[in-house]
Amino acid sequence: MDDAQAMQRCIRLARNGAGSVQPNPMVGAVLVQGDRVLAEGWHRAAGGPHAEVECLRAFGEGPVPADAVMVVSLEPCVHHGRTPPCTDLLIARGVRTVVVGCLDPNPLVAGRGIERLRAAGIEVRTGVREAECRWLDRRFITAFEQQRPYVVLKWARSIDGFLDRSGSREGRGPQRISSPGTDVLVHRWRSEEAAILVGARTVVNDDPHLTVRHVSGRDPLRVVLDRQGITPAASHVYDGAPPTLLITSAQRAGIAAEQHLVAPGDDPLDATLRELHRREVRSVLVEGGGELLHHFIRRGLWDEARVITGTVTFGAGTPAPTLPLAPCRSFASGTDRIDLFTRTDAPDDTWAW
Ligand SMILES: NC(=O)c1ccc[n+]([C@@H]2O[C@H](COP(=O)([O-])OP(=O)(O)OC[C@H]3O[C@@H](n4cnc5c(N)ncnc54)[C@H](OP(=O)(O)O)[C@@H]3O)[C@@H](O)[C@H]2O)c1
Ligand SMILES: [Zn+2]
Repeated sequence: MDDAQAMQRCIRLARNGAGSVQPNPMVGAVLVQGDRVLAEGWHRAAGGPHAEVECLRAFGEGPVPADAVMVVSLEPCVHHGRTPPCTDLLIARGVRTVVVGCLDPNPLVAGRGIERLRAAGIEVRTGVREAECRWLDRRFITAFEQQRPYVVLKWARSIDGFLDRSGSREGRGPQRISSPGTDVLVHRWRSEEAAILVGARTVVNDDPHLTVRHVSGRDPLRVVLDRQGITPAASHVYDGAPPTLLITSAQRAGIAAEQHLVAPGDDPLDATLRELHRREVRSVLVEGGGELLHHFIRRGLWDEARVITGTVTFGAGTPAPTLPLAPCRSFASGTDRIDLFTRTDAPDDTWAW
């Protein structure tokens, strides 16, 4: 098994941690000897053992063979976080060769893990499937490189380009655009991001729950941008669990949500992303409505967009946003079409679903 094949396995293992490792990165590790995989592991949850530790635990107590290679998707850590440094463990266990996918962007690590291993006489090969490893941990990397969460925009549009149908509404509640199979996919998307953000008028009109229901997975932090305080206290987003963060301009009484106040004159998107970053929220799924999405697009403050086109025709309503670039990938989901957009080059085979 060559380094690239072993790294592919690491990436696949790492994805098992999607949705549960945040604010940490997803990481996978395999110990290989020639064509044999001796052991494998991945980082399962924040606060739990790192991938290298899991892998060596799975290998057991015996001596690591001299020709065994530890392959890991992210540079091993050198700092004492919630667990002791992995570099120390690799050295102590007598690992002679380490293969690394990409560098850790955390300034506490950033190349020092590799230096430390080399200083201990370990052979280190770097940059194996680097682009795929960076893509795997794009949320974590964006947080360190851009000091903000990774932003994923998502909306569903009618075939004639509307987010909703104006007028003739029978009370609150969303109008169906996507098919049931797509709802399952959208709930998987929710479970993979740390937060989910909606605009005030979306809460007023649609009263969404913003929870993960069609798949098993963690609920993201629910976030509502409502500076004017127009969202009703009885909205589903304020039902207490999972937690909700209300971004507003004046404290509101009787709302079951944490509140973060935007100062007058402060940009609401900057204020929101700054507060999420402060909370170590590594990614946010922006689920509309039109105006909120428009502001993210106008500011260029997004990394990915996922657009669902259903088969309904609305004729009139809130126009769906448009993006100034072509989709990098499109696929069918039941009767719907899904278009994926990214601001950076996405390796082809790394869309996990
Ligand atoms: N098909 C879909 O995927 C989908 C998804 C969601 C919603 N919808 C539909 O969309 C409709 C609501 O959309 P909408 O466009 O009317 O409202 P909206 O986007 O839900 O709400 C307007 C948002 O824009 C924000 N905003 C105002 N000025 C801003 C600025 N300068 N920078 C950043 N943000 C700013 C507002 O914040 P402040 O209140 O703090 O000013 C508010 O959160 C609903 O009827 C719903 O059915 C469809
Ligand atoms: Zn570690």
